[in-house]
Amino acid sequence: MNAKTLAIIVILLYNVRICQSKKYVNFTLYSTVPTSPEHLKFLQNLDKQKYMEVIFWRKPSMLYEDVQLIVHPGDKEHFLERVYHFKMKVEELLSDVNSAFEAQTVTKYLRLNTDTYTWYNYHKLEDIYQWLADMAVRYPNAMELNSIGKSIEGRDIYVVSVKKPGNKFKVIVEGGIHGDEWIAVELVTYLINELVGKNNSDNRRLYDLSRKYDWYLIPIVNPDGYLYSHTTDRLWRKNRRGTANAIGVDLNRNFDYNFGKYGTSRDPKDDNYCGPRPFSEPESRILADFVTEKKQNLRFYFSFHAYGQKLIIPYADRINHIDNYGEMENFGKQAILKMYKMYGTKYAIGTTYDTLGLRISGNSASWVKRIHGVRYVFTFLLRDEGYYGYALPPNQILPTCEETVSGLTELMVAKPRRVRLNFINKAQKPVSVIFILLLLTKMDNNLIYFLIYFFPILFCDCKKYHNYTLYRGIPVDDIHLEFFKNLTTVDYVNFWRDPGQKFRPVDFVVDPEHKEQFLKDADNLGLYLTTIIEDVQKAFDMQSVKPYIRRKMDSFDWNNYFRLQDIYEWLQDLEKTYPTEIKLTTIGRSYESREIIAVRIALKGSKMRSKVIVEGGIHAREWIAPAFVTYLINQIIHAPNSNNPELKEIALTYEWYFVPVLNPDGYEYSHTHDRMWRKNRNSLGGVDLNRNFNHAFGSTGVSFTVNSEIFCGTSAFSEPESRAMGTFIESKSQHLEYYLAFHSYGQYMILPYANQRKHTENYNEVFTMCTEAKEKIAAKYNTKYTVGTAYDTVGYLTSGVSGCWVKGKFRVPYVVTFELRDNGHDGFALSQDKIRPTCEETMDGVISLLKPRTRAYSKLEGDYTAAAMSLFILDKIVIVFNVLLFIIVRFD
Ligand SMILES: *[C@@H]1O[C@H](CO)[C@@H](O)[C@H](O)[C@H]1NC(C)=O
Ligand SMILES: *[C@@H]1O[C@H](CO)[C@@H](O)[C@H](O)[C@H]1NC(C)=O
Ligand SMILES: *[C@@H]1O[C@H](CO)[C@@H](O)[C@H](O)[C@H]1NC(C)=O
Ligand SMILES: *[C@@H]1O[C@H](CO)[C@@H](O)[C@H](O)[C@H]1NC(C)=O
Repeated sequence: MNAKTLAIIVILLYNVRICQSKKYVNFTLYSTVPTSPEHLKFLQNLDKQKYMEVIFWRKPSMLYEDVQLIVHPGDKEHFLERVYHFKMKVEELLSDVNSAFEAQTVTKYLRLNTDTYTWYNYHKLEDIYQWLADMAVRYPNAMELNSIGKSIEGRDIYVVSVKKPGNKFKVIVEGGIHGDEWIAVELVTYLINELVGKNNSDNRRLYDLSRKYDWYLIPIVNPDGYLYSHTTDRLWRKNRRGTANAIGVDLNRNFDYNFGKYGTSRDPKDDNYCGPRPFSEPESRILADFVTEKKQNLRFYFSFHAYGQKLIIPYADRINHIDNYGEMENFGKQAILKMYKMYGTKYAIGTTYDTLGLRISGNSASWVKRIHGVRYVFTFLLRDEGYYGYALPPNQILPTCEETVSGLTELMVAKPRRVRLNFINKAQKPVSVIFILLLLTKMDNNLIYFLIYFFPILFCDCKKYHNYTLYRGIPVDDIHLEFFKNLTTVDYVNFWRDPGQKFRPVDFVVDPEHKEQFLKDADNLGLYLTTIIEDVQKAFDMQSVKPYIRRKMDSFDWNNYFRLQDIYEWLQDLEKTYPTEIKLTTIGRSYESREIIAVRIALKGSKMRSKVIVEGGIHAREWIAPAFVTYLINQIIHAPNSNNPELKEIALTYEWYFVPVLNPDGYEYSHTHDRMWRKNRNSLGGVDLNRNFNHAFGSTGVSFTVNSEIFCGTSAFSEPESRAMGTFIESKSQHLEYYLAFHSYGQYMILPYANQRKHTENYNEVFTMCTEAKEKIAAKYNTKYTVGTAYDTVGYLTSGVSGCWVKGKFRVPYVVTFELRDNGHDGFALSQDKIRPTCEETMDGVISLLKPRTRAYSKLEGDYTAAAMSLFILDKIVIVFNVLLFIIVRFD
């Protein structure tokens, strides 16, 4: 034996020794949902600093997104201790991951007998390759098998081509780019068998597709990693670069698209290591070259991964939906519905950011779409939702393959059509989470609470505002004002406080992608900006929403926000408790047919001198407004037992009407989809209801562009909500003395009329009343209000406002619009600990305002319409006069 041979043997032995299969015996799989920023931070630190031996199967990215991780038996106690410390709920899904892996049986395939290859078990690399070779022999006319290159350890990467002469369009299918995602490989082999090995009378549509397109299927892009996950480390994800040091590159971060930017790591030990440079790895390069070779008429590109049940649309690094996203989403939803109908498997759809809450770059799908402009590029994250994760048991392989192929078929034949995925909104999240919740609730003995509490939050496909920043700018120059006014037309800036006049603060949110450019532009104009909230989503996440438990009146409070249904149920229970004093009526239905409820309170022994109408929630995102109106209702109904004589007095003086949520669709939408939603849900894109009333309609401070935040609608009272309110007010207009509308934010009391600068009618009287009220408000928590017209306070004119219409049409003497807290520190993200103080101080202001006047109630004098008309004519005369003067001067 010579030295060389000896050396080889030594190396081999050495390799065998260090390559003993890594086992995950007694590793425990946990699932959890971070519900507070502390939870999220703890999990992210755990992932980063590795002070315990844990492996994340699904990484913590956002609040309320579930996370799965496996924990080494030696660290279990420590882990649970930390979890307990942070008051987190974790659920143990698998007590021994290894036994679940062992249950993933791998069968041996019998050579030359392609029918013995089934999808009841997983398969080894060599068996898959053998089967592919045998299939090629058996169906020489239907398929071709070619190697398109070799992996870093010299294994072939195969492509199966299913071609028919004369076909125009191509389809590429990619699987097994990650070693440990075995189900993805099974799926692609299943698809090959469906396309080639079957005379598909039972699946006509797939049969047609197999004729219509040229298919190229790559079942295992990463053969080294796949093999390694079988022989050595079941959780091996990357390729096998630098075998001895276990470096490996995540091939799906190695593509030349925005390389190395998001969701990846420069640390070779990391699971998401992107490699030293784009296409540093043979596997990714081979795949890319192959795609480039076939780019002509490449119509579809499908990439298969596990796990999570998501259908993902490019681009993985972007927050915005661009290119033909809308079309792909429409087709994708049809596919999801199809899959759901087969086995009830629920998929979510969206970009990586939408579905997983993170951004990644350098992935194959985004590269294909960007570089070759392929129209339909979809990534499937197959089963499950995290119950087994990578340990998906073999009895789920076949169902997974069947449902996915049916979904894929649907995707390829879809036509644009309306799809409603009811289950997506209600229960987008996994069975596993329901399961976790059930188990948690068992632990907690508080089942109802948990179900109600978590369902709406977990199951909403809420738009997230991570890294969106709230800025304040003060225009001190005309050019600054122009700059802001220009921005009102772009969709990446959302104004919380609109630009009005110079020196009035403007608050607005900018999305992360445009932040840099925006800051540059602002800087160039010498515009000084302050950052108010760095990450708006974080602030929104702090606004806890609580469920109301029926007939448990004290579970409704002013320490939390509530959903519409809960507000309504609380009102109904209140009506049952005080049947003679309270009466609820439905004054109409919203665009999406939700009830708009009005509450009448007439206390026993009330003087009923005149009426008060209180309006709340006309703008969806102003959550504090409905919160205050419910507080006011609660105060008034309990006033007879109150030890506050002033409260008692006002409560017993008037006949009260409240509409706590005038815009129920928008309010719900701001809870379930988009926290910054303002308008109603008219399918045109929503109408700003507080621009839709018939007072100077459409004349100023509005937009006729449908996607504008202040779109006033096509005509006055075009919207069911404003119409219902208008009719309701009209029916109560006899002896209507007060009309109070609640909004946020800015700390203003705004007096009519919003469409003019002049102070008219009894402005001075109301101004004096409000000034007193303002002092009462400030006395409690030192909250400072400003009183004036819209022009005086927020700095701009506007029209179609509810209060102005009420005052103008019904001659109601006291009309005040409150903009509640705050003054721009939290804006719409007012945290729940501010709800009660806001309500308390506002209550003092309302009591002061409603203190019975010494003079008896009387309508405003004069006919406003006539007054307005004479003003209008006067304006015109002035203009004509000026024009004449101008002409005279010119031609003198
Ligand atoms: C795993 O846990 C079981 C039960 O607690 C124990 O009997 C067994 O020895 C453990 N195995 C290892 C490898 O630690
Ligand atoms: C498939 O079925 C059709 C009609 O049933 C038959 O004509 C054809 O020969 C079959 N092809 C194969 C490959 O079995
Ligand atoms: C937000 O920005 C921070 C810092 O720039 C970054 O680390 C984080 O990944 C970003 N989050 C998202 C969701 O983009
Ligand atoms: C505003 O938009 C107009 C028209 O597009 C443009 O000419 C002007 O320069 C813009 N102003 C600022 C300050 O950006």
